[in-house]
Amino acid sequence: MLLDIEDLTIELPAGAAARPMLAEVSLRVGRGEVVGLVGESGSGKSTTARAVLRMLPEGARASGSVRVDGEDVLAMDPARLRRHRSRTVSMIFQDPRSAMNPVRRIGDFLTDPLTRVLGLSRRDAVVKAAELLASVGLSDPERRMRQRPHELSGGMLQRVVIAAALSTDPDLLLADEATSALDATTQAEVLALLRSIQEERRRAGSGIGTLFITHDLPLAAAYCDRVYVMYAGRVVEQQPARGLFADPKHPYTRGLLECSPSLGDDREPRPIPGRPPSLSDALTGCPFLPRCARAEAECETWAPVAVPLGGDGDGSERYGFAACRRLELVSRSSA
Ligand SMILES: Nc1ncnc2c1ncn2[C@@H]1O[C@H](COP(=O)(O)OP(=O)(O)OP(=O)(O)O)[C@@H](O)[C@H]1O
Ligand SMILES: [Mg+2]
Repeated sequence: MLLDIEDLTIELPAGAAARPMLAEVSLRVGRGEVVGLVGESGSGKSTTARAVLRMLPEGARASGSVRVDGEDVLAMDPARLRRHRSRTVSMIFQDPRSAMNPVRRIGDFLTDPLTRVLGLSRRDAVVKAAELLASVGLSDPERRMRQRPHELSGGMLQRVVIAAALSTDPDLLLADEATSALDATTQAEVLALLRSIQEERRRAGSGIGTLFITHDLPLAAAYCDRVYVMYAGRVVEQQPARGLFADPKHPYTRGLLECSPSLGDDREPRPIPGRPPSLSDALTGCPFLPRCARAEAECETWAPVAVPLGGDGDGSERYGFAACRRLELVSRSSA
């Protein structure tokens, strides 16, 4: 397994929060797979992605494991960790402008990692940078390289950021709201680009895995192979994308789908009542309980566990799981 996060719990220092930022998060991404991670603001999506680079909040304690190609990122020595961050994993953020120095040229943004990380000569780096820009669909790459960020549109800049992320030939791509700031047409173009790069690498035998973070559940269901849903620092459901969209099992996932308007659907979008808990809210029982229309008294003391959705207790990637007490009752009674 390319990325294998197992029971990851991240806690801020005592007094800074009433509950963990992440609680027992388990998540896997295989080579060649595009895996979605969705949830409302503050659910812990970015914290999960940053943990893959061992970028933890100041003073935070982490338990569990984050393995990339079998090696635990939380236990790497500094030299190994540097290489892991610069070569093995690449991260693409939402706002390309904030990721780039506004006064430097586009070319420098690309040639820097090529010379620094891959050790290419300046001249080779310039040639490779132009190739990379062409490969993400930018015309006239030589001219682009002389331009500065303000001379390019948001969509073009995001292509530059993707080119830079791929320049070091990573195994794992972490895309954190990478297309959220783009208009619908540009978003579709950038997603198509990411997919075609993924396909190309798969055919070349060096499949990369992508963790695709978004708050947009229909987008994740359309774009990804599998999707994890997070709530209050926990994974509450995982299913293959089609199943998640057609038959969501957790009341929270259902709520997310019901509040997303979709074409040809004449029902009014229905928001989930209430707000997600903050880090200062201590949680006991099911964290979704205060907003759940189907909650029962027993949910108040129920310790969340992943209930397998497969026929014979199989909660694997293929069948998925959901952390809801009512599902646990159903699966027990049919066992
Ligand atoms: N460095 C930090 N120190 C303290 N708290 C933090 C830190 N980073 C994030 N948090 C808190 O941890 C929780 C999870 O944040 P995170 O950024 O992972 O959420 P998210 O799902 O990525 O949200 P969004 O959709 O808004 O990006 C939030 O309550 C956030 O305020
Ligand atoms: Mg985030």
